Amino acid sequence: MTTESVSFTVNDSERTTEVTGSETLLDTLRERMGLRGTKEGCLEGECGACTVLLDDRPIDSCIYPTAACAGRAVRTVEGVGEVDAPSLLQQAMVRCGGVQCGFCTPGFVMSLTALLEREANPDREAIQNAISGNICRCTGYTQIVEAVEAVLVESGRANTAQGATS
Ligand code: FES
Ligand code: FES
Repeated sequence: MTTESVSFTVNDSERTTEVTGSETLLDTLRERMGLRGTKEGCLEGECGACTVLLDDRPIDSCIYPTAACAGRAVRTVEGVGEVDAPSLLQQAMVRCGGVQCGFCTPGFVMSLTALLEREANPDREAIQNAISGNICRCTGYTQIVEAVEAVLVESGRANTAQGATS
């Protein structure tokens, strides 16, 4: 099987890897780079378990070719926080009950991290839109939305821009 060399950054580190022509970013991250925080769900771009950020925007890595990442910046859940140093969002998701079985969680964390980076004070509708491509079979979503709102309050953002948390 022919392979090609592709270089891009992963969590701010330069990486070069051999990939097959049709190889997905999900397979490259998990199987070649050992970054197994990104989960494998439907493999059809429907569930969002495999969400990572490409140049700060969420994508479904299960349907994204690694070759198209050349020269770009990929971020995975490993780049957001660590077990002993979770991000504010990760802490809030645990505290608010937004993590139950946890399988969907890395995908939600990536979609919501991107939202929190691009909007100072997203309202509830914006939060719900940001996770419209992420499926959770456990939480009912309310706790996840509440976790984001908790972050906005804790970080003083809920009062700094237009848009209200309800
Ligand atoms: S595993 Fe990629 S969207 Fe479901
Ligand atoms: S916490 Fe179980 S699927 Fe979301």
